[in-house]
Amino acid sequence: MKVLTDLVGDITQKNYTLTTILRTQQGYHEKRRWSVYDVIRDVPYQDFDERDRAALWHASRAELTTQPAGIRLAVQGVNLAQKLEEENPVGAMVLQAAAAWSARYWLEEEAHHEVAYGILLEMAGLSAIEHDELVDHRGFFPDDNYARVCMLQACVEIEACATYGEMARTSHNPLVKQIFHRIMRDESQHRQYFVSFARGLVDAGVYPIKDVLAMAYTWLRPDHGETHGSRREMQSERQGFVNWWEKVQTDEDSGVALADDQIRSKNLQRKKEKSVFYAILEATGIKVNSVKELERAYFKSLTDPNANRPRHSIYKGTREKVCVAQ
Ligand SMILES: [Fe+2]
Ligand SMILES: [Fe+2]
Repeated sequence: MKVLTDLVGDITQKNYTLTTILRTQQGYHEKRRWSVYDVIRDVPYQDFDERDRAALWHASRAELTTQPAGIRLAVQGVNLAQKLEEENPVGAMVLQAAAAWSARYWLEEEAHHEVAYGILLEMAGLSAIEHDELVDHRGFFPDDNYARVCMLQACVEIEACATYGEMARTSHNPLVKQIFHRIMRDESQHRQYFVSFARGLVDAGVYPIKDVLAMAYTWLRPDHGETHGSRREMQSERQGFVNWWEKVQTDEDSGVALADDQIRSKNLQRKKEKSVFYAILEATGIKVNSVKELERAYFKSLTDPNANRPRHSIYKGTREKVCVAQ
């Protein structure tokens, strides 16, 4: 059991049904499941240091924001699938698979993360997240182009993966290491799912490649990209939705400031960029090795109609059905 990375190929060449896809998702989920309470009960821990506390302060809040995105992707995915059912049944099936995965497994796994970090936060002697702050993090996620949102979420998972991985590697506290490590592994397969849905939507001709490139570029663009988070001079206006990466505390007086090497060292940033480049390759078939190359590929996709066709989509009957769903 694993993540199906070529949904359109599986549907059109291997005759996978939606049921096959959903059972594969369930099998993989069951195989990977772990218990927050068992780990906290069984793994010894020692004093939480300043870095542990800063990481837990941020991670426990970041995890609160996934629920609204999961709800949105589940509802919007089914709505869009219903609209496309006649016109693009393969695309509709990809959307049903994405909606089901968001509703069932993504939300459930992110709940694990929220609870695990929340408990550790209190064990580390920091205040529990209060009701009002929790509710603030549940603001509705805006409707957007589904392929863009899948790519956005892939980038967010990459961000989480890199920063959690760094804590798993550097913390001296065995429980902190273990929890960050397990959650990093979850985030890594979430990234894989989002990339496979983005690819499926491109391959099925639901969205053009430019939408995936646009999001990757919005994420990585120099100085203003989302990946630069709270370090950017200007933050975007949000309507009720919290993007955790814009709220990163770097003020030493806060007592929970994240050190650069915990989130934005050159090395970590390079790791994140490489991972986004690989996600682009998987989703679109386009290889870029730098933000500059990504910029060129994105601008080209805006003017060159061929670049907007699925590059690796060779599945007969799906290529021309570029649709309406934008
Ligand atoms: Fe998470
Ligand atoms: Fe995740």
